[in-house]
Amino acid sequence: MNQPIFSSSGMTAPAKKAYVIVLGNEKGGSGKTTTGMHLIISLLRLGFNVGSMDIDSRQRSLSRYLENRRQTMLKEGVDLPQPQHVIIQRSPFNIVQDAEEDERDRFTKALEKLASVNDFIVIDSPGSDTFLSRTAHAYADTVITPINDSFVDLDVLATVDGQTMKIIRPSIYSEMVWEQKLQRAKRDGGSIEWIVMRNRLSNIDAKNKRFITQVSIELSRRIGFRLAPGFSERVIFREMFLQGLTVLDIMEAGSGSLSMSHIAARQEVRDLLKMLQIPLLDERLAKTSAESTKIDAEKEDEAPVAVTASVAVKQDVAELA
Ligand SMILES: Nc1ncnc2c1ncn2[C@@H]1O[C@H](COP(=O)(O)OP(=O)(O)OP(=O)(O)O)[C@@H](O)[C@H]1O
Ligand SMILES: [Mg+2]
Repeated sequence: MNQPIFSSSGMTAPAKKAYVIVLGNEKGGSGKTTTGMHLIISLLRLGFNVGSMDIDSRQRSLSRYLENRRQTMLKEGVDLPQPQHVIIQRSPFNIVQDAEEDERDRFTKALEKLASVNDFIVIDSPGSDTFLSRTAHAYADTVITPINDSFVDLDVLATVDGQTMKIIRPSIYSEMVWEQKLQRAKRDGGSIEWIVMRNRLSNIDAKNKRFITQVSIELSRRIGFRLAPGFSERVIFREMFLQGLTVLDIMEAGSGSLSMSHIAARQEVRDLLKMLQIPLLDERLAKTSAESTKIDAEKEDEAPVAVTASVAVKQDVAELA
């Protein structure tokens, strides 16, 4: 596992160190908040204490999702696991240097507080380059960058030659992640794992998907990230936002039964957790896997098998890598 986040000189080490996961991509609408919601709930359901931070104080989608969850608890009288949540506001100061100092202070104080009582901290960042977003990246143990399955989104990582499919240069966002890796190493000698996950995969355009897989593998080697198969396009990943629920809550919140698509969605979330390769998490996953596999397998017997787009990507990666 990475080094603790607060081991730098000049900072008091908190009693407990949390593992920090930042959802980041300067491109809007790529699935940062959706992935963040599912990560938070699955970590909670695995029994971890989770802190969450919304540094997208304009949109506040993650905060609204969690507020919806709280309302569902009150209205339905159900007990749902909740993270300890904070919103970091932008600084009101006009002078850039003052504003940056103020925001760094707000961020590190909140992080220190959450880190002292939680196992994980999940941070949702905005789809634009802000000082707070850069700061959060520099404190990450893992950065997860969801990208939609198109060359428009790959362009956020690097410029690719349309004729030869060769990578011309890394993008501004990739350079920013590298810059924050350096900042992190300078501050506490720690390292940042960078994971790019494909999102909203569909079964329809198999040729495009394979093409993107090929370029993504090349990019992962050149830019230095690990490629996760990611999430398919599924209604279940978005339909329960207003209730503040996820597919991981379905059985418990009494909001219906599991379909094949739900089981596949849960598997995709679990695959992402495994992909993180965090020892503390792997141990817990191993303990729970027998039980959840049994439940899901029983359900599978009752419904026709659904081909998941992310499984198809996994197969392509295995063949192309
Ligand atoms: N795997 C998926 N299947 C179906 N819908 C999805 C999936 N992932 C994301 N969405 C939908 O795509 C839209 C954008 O997702 P989301 O808000 O998570 O992106 P974001 O990166 O947080 O956006 P922003 O940069 O604006 O904060 C939302 O309507 C969300 O419900
Ligand atoms: Mg968002």
